[in-house]
Amino acid sequence: MSPRKHRASHLDTYDTWPMLSRILRHYLWNHKRDLSWAGLAMFIIAVALALQAHLIQPLFDNGLISGRIGVINTIIFTIVGLTIIRGVATYYQTYYMESVGQRVVATMQDEMYSQTLRQHLGFFATNPTGTLTSRFVSDLQRLKYAVTQIFSSGLRDSGTIIGLFGNMLLQDVKLTLLTMIIFPLTVLPIRKFGRLTRKYSRVNQESTARMAHHLSQTLQHIRQVQSYTQEKNESKRMMARVSDVLDSTLRAVRIRAMSSPSVELIGTIVIAAIMLYAGQRIADGTLTTGSFASFMASLVMLSRPLKGITNLNNNIQEGLAAAQRAFEIIDAPLTITDESGATALTVKKGAINFSQVTLTYTDGTTALSDINLAIPAGHTVAFVGPSGAGKTSLLNLLPRFYNISHGHISIDGQDISHVTLKSLRSQMGLVTQDVAVFDESIAANIAYGNPKASQASIESAARAAAAHEFISALPHGYDTVLGENGLKLSGGQKQRLAIARAILKNAPILMLDEATAALDTASEKDVQKALQKLSKDRTTLIVAHRLSTIAHANTIMVLDSGKIVEQGSHAALLKKKGLYYKLWSMQANAEDAA
Ligand SMILES: Nc1ncnc2c1ncn2[C@@H]1O[C@H](COP(=O)(O)OP(=O)(O)O)[C@@H](O)[C@H]1O
Ligand SMILES: [Mg+2]
Repeated sequence: MSPRKHRASHLDTYDTWPMLSRILRHYLWNHKRDLSWAGLAMFIIAVALALQAHLIQPLFDNGLISGRIGVINTIIFTIVGLTIIRGVATYYQTYYMESVGQRVVATMQDEMYSQTLRQHLGFFATNPTGTLTSRFVSDLQRLKYAVTQIFSSGLRDSGTIIGLFGNMLLQDVKLTLLTMIIFPLTVLPIRKFGRLTRKYSRVNQESTARMAHHLSQTLQHIRQVQSYTQEKNESKRMMARVSDVLDSTLRAVRIRAMSSPSVELIGTIVIAAIMLYAGQRIADGTLTTGSFASFMASLVMLSRPLKGITNLNNNIQEGLAAAQRAFEIIDAPLTITDESGATALTVKKGAINFSQVTLTYTDGTTALSDINLAIPAGHTVAFVGPSGAGKTSLLNLLPRFYNISHGHISIDGQDISHVTLKSLRSQMGLVTQDVAVFDESIAANIAYGNPKASQASIESAARAAAAHEFISALPHGYDTVLGENGLKLSGGQKQRLAIARAILKNAPILMLDEATAALDTASEKDVQKALQKLSKDRTTLIVAHRLSTIAHANTIMVLDSGKIVEQGSHAALLKKKGLYYKLWSMQANAEDAA
């Protein structure tokens, strides 16, 4: 899909009406029972209020003016009773609406999260964690507020407006007609402000997301910030972002602040005109005092629901802006999925073939070009080369973290693009340089993805990864909780945990991307032994910076600028005196010097 095409469809899907209808059909319809209860409560509220306004007329004409205390008492008690009824109805309406709003948010959070987890890696480069987090939390909160407001204040207020208008018609048709003609004047500013609010709230949410991103990034890399003494600079950059947020917030505040008084001013002008006309009619004797009092009471009571409707529009606009940002995540196309009719990959031995493989990232970087590889089952192949040569990119292709731009990759003769992702990924163990540790116990971390693993198998994996010793030394052993609020492990310890995780997975294809880079020489030797044992009957792809650790590989592929420039055994490559020889000599010299 070209970017322009995407834009065009974008505008259509995220226009006001398509979005409202989507929210209604997809999210609210499931709660139609609760919504109906809320609707009934709102109806009762509106009718009770209109009745109260209506009772003002007999209160004046039949009670107050002629001094009949019995009539006065009856009407006053009825008015109080109606207020109690309205109170009870308001309670139910608020409760049902709020609960629907909360459940809609919960549904959207589920959808957003599960959709995000299935995204290709490139997606996370364009949608940093801070942005995703702010969409997940604050945007959905805004949306919930909008949804509950649309119904609780929107429906109730418009119901009340209709009821009060009905009473006005009953009291005097001409007076009402005059009101109806001049009343729509109040709608003009409402519309204008609505549009502006929506625009600024979008700007505001975007700058908030940028601020959140900056915050999470600098806090996450606080050691870098401090060691490069960038505190002042980062604060300065943060200040710029904070002031962006402030700026757009104030603009939105200004619009909101102007909105209510403008509507009120126009309302007052309308009421003044009505008073002038009614005074004339009472003087003529064609309108009773009671009718006029009831009419005016209705008109005054209208001001609150009308204000509600004005704010409602602002809320809807803010909510739609938030909904759009949520939908953009939910709707982001999944580019790496199972093909229709994809079959399960069956690995007997694990022979891997690359044929004319080219990988171009979405930003235009060609990381690999025309790669041809035939890795026999059970072999260990090492990839070496300068950083940026494309080693990680090559490994990322096997689990289909990225789609290749050209060529074919197959495992045991099956093209990996025609098999299911689940079956494909279950056949490989991956250990990378940056190790992920989850906020769980050590045992759960090793058994990640395999919660049924027995304690014995977890321990033996840890032993094989040379991790058992340090784990047993911890006060809670395998039950020690790691992560945010738990224990912090050293880089090398985390690395061994990740290796244990891969060992436990026991997959026929093993990929190690600088897996031992964080280890000291002593523990690297232990882990290296473990990995060599592990790679024995598996097809193993190793990327290693320290060339001494891959000298045992069956084949060594030397990558440079996305191409395989040399390949062969360690001895053969040394003899060749090419790039591998150069890299090897450089490292040997460095080690001698150390
Ligand atoms: N997600 C990505 N998007 C765009 N370019 C990328 C991405 N990942 C890596 N690259 C680029 O691809 C090239 C190869 O990177 P990489 O495979 O990480 O190299 P190596 O692992 O050999 O150091 C580099 O030029 C790098 O900048
Ligand atoms: Mg790399």
